[in-house]
Order: sequence, then C-alpha cells, then structure tokens
Amino acid sequence: MSSHQDKITYESLLEGNKIWVAETLKADPTFFDELSAGQAPPILWIGCSDSRVPANQITNTMPGDIFVHRNIANVVTHTDMNLLSVLDYSVNVLKVKHIIVCGHYGCGGVNAALGTKQVGLIDNWLRNIKDVYRTHEREMGTIKDPARRSDRLVELNAIEGANNVMNTSIVQNAWASGQELAVHAWVYSLKTGLIKDMEVSASSADGLPDVFKMETE
Ligand code: CO
Repeated sequence: MSSHQDKITYESLLEGNKIWVAETLKADPTFFDELSAGQAPPILWIGCSDSRVPANQITNTMPGDIFVHRNIANVVTHTDMNLLSVLDYSVNVLKVKHIIVCGHYGCGGVNAALGTKQVGLIDNWLRNIKDVYRTHEREMGTIKDPARRSDRLVELNAIEGANNVMNTSIVQNAWASGQELAVHAWVYSLKTGLIKDMEVSASSADGLPDVFKMETE
C-alpha cells in the first residue's frame, strides 16, 4: 500500500471536504445551488465496491451525473432488495437512459469465486459468480492460464449482470411502455484506467431468452 493512504485520517477527510468545496465554488459559484434543487442523472451505474473503481472519476463526470449502486464484484441477483430498489427508483422515478454494469479486471471477489478457499459469509455472495462460471463452463474450461481465466470470468460476470438487469420486470415494463433505456456491460482495467465495452447492449426485450420474457401490459 502506498504512503498516500497512511496519511488519510478522519480529520483529513473533513479538511479535504473544505478544500473541495472551495475549489468547486471557485470554478462554479452556483454549483451547489443547482445540484441541491434536484437530481436528474441519465445513468445508473452498477459497479464493484473496490476503492479503485469510482464511477465518477473514471468517467470524468460530476456529482449529479450518475446514480450509483456498488457491491462486492458487481453482482446482479434478482433477490437483492437493495439492488432492485435502486433499479426500480432509477428506471421509474429518475428515468435513467442507460444502465451500466461495470466489472473490473483483477476483481478480488471474482478471484475468490474462482478458488476453493472459504473466506466467510461472503462465500454465499460470491456463489453467484460460481453460477456465472457454471453457465459458461465450456468456455472457461478451455482457458488454462490463471490470469486469463480471471479476466474472462470478470467479463462474463459483467455480461451476466447486464443480462440479469434486462431480465427484470422493471426493465421489461419500461421497454414495453416505450421508455428509452439501454443496458450495457463494461469492464474497467486497473492497469490502464481504460474501460472496455463488452458490446452486449440491449434497448428492447427482443433478444432475451424466451424463458425470461414476460408478458407486459
Ligand atoms: Co471487484
């Protein structure tokens, strides 16, 4: 760990906040007046909790631009009330136009899911990623290099996360009502800072597997 993190204290965060406010107001004196009036972010971001993958910084965006949900290994599972609440609110109230599931190479959660070691309670959470592996067992079985196995499972986990978003009644009802909404899967590289678009975007239910297609009103 770098010495930069050693210097971070409870007090330094509050000090940093004051500096940020001063610099922000210098650049735009009405910044907080406008933001405090309400939010209308066009993007919902579902990402990993990893401290190195902050949605705003890596996309050069500002407060107010992205509605964010993060959990360990950007898992999208249909029994997660937290995620479903964020999804419902962002689609039906905020009317976001894009939902991005963003994984990242070198994800500790994905690597743990590739292994057999017990970590603790989180094993049950990471079990969702083992299901992604099982869904793509044939492809994963052909990859022998450990680093490439990890990278590919990161990609497949982001793709399956986006698929799980598309399969929800929330997104399918939005599509059926003609709402403009696209779902994407991305993967961020910690080594280069660059994002790879997995190009599996969908903006209608047409491509969904039949078993996930729902009758909509
Ligand atoms: Co991660």
